[in-house]
Amino acid sequence: MSNDPLVQQARQAALRAYAPYSRFSVGAAIESVDGEIAVGANMENACYRLGICAEISALTAARQAFGLDKVRRIAVAGGHVGPDGTLAGAAPVTPCGGCRQAIYEAADLSGLDIEVISSNGDGTEAIATTIRQLLPHGFGPASLADAGD
Ligand code: THU
Repeated sequence: MSNDPLVQQARQAALRAYAPYSRFSVGAAIESVDGEIAVGANMENACYRLGICAEISALTAARQAFGLDKVRRIAVAGGHVGPDGTLAGAAPVTPCGGCRQAIYEAADLSGLDIEVISSNGDGTEAIATTIRQLLPHGFGPASLADAGD
């Protein structure tokens, strides 16, 4: 069991996912440089392509709570909700490509290489990475330096 509280907050957030179509519940918990927390979960839709990921949901909440430029760490956990009402699953959940891009945007704003902790649903295995490891040579706000007026 990961004893990182941020992982446990991501697992808790996954329990409030709205994922009736994939039945794959994902939670994300974001910690600011000042220790504040914002959480989110995936939210699907009958029009399947409109579903949003847990990381985007949490980044939106973080923007409201403390600002994207203060994001220090993000934990992601996903799997299925078991009969006992807890999150379960063996494989750690790493952010999808689109979410990596969104995390990269926050990292570019702060200049911090945001830590990304990917947990399995069980909470028994977690992989610690950074956004620059997950998205090397990314394109972000700084990449627009040569845009015209
Ligand atoms: N999902 C996330 O919320 N985050 C990820 O990084 C991977 C995928 C969600 C999207 C969809 O609701 C479900 O997991 C299955 O793909």
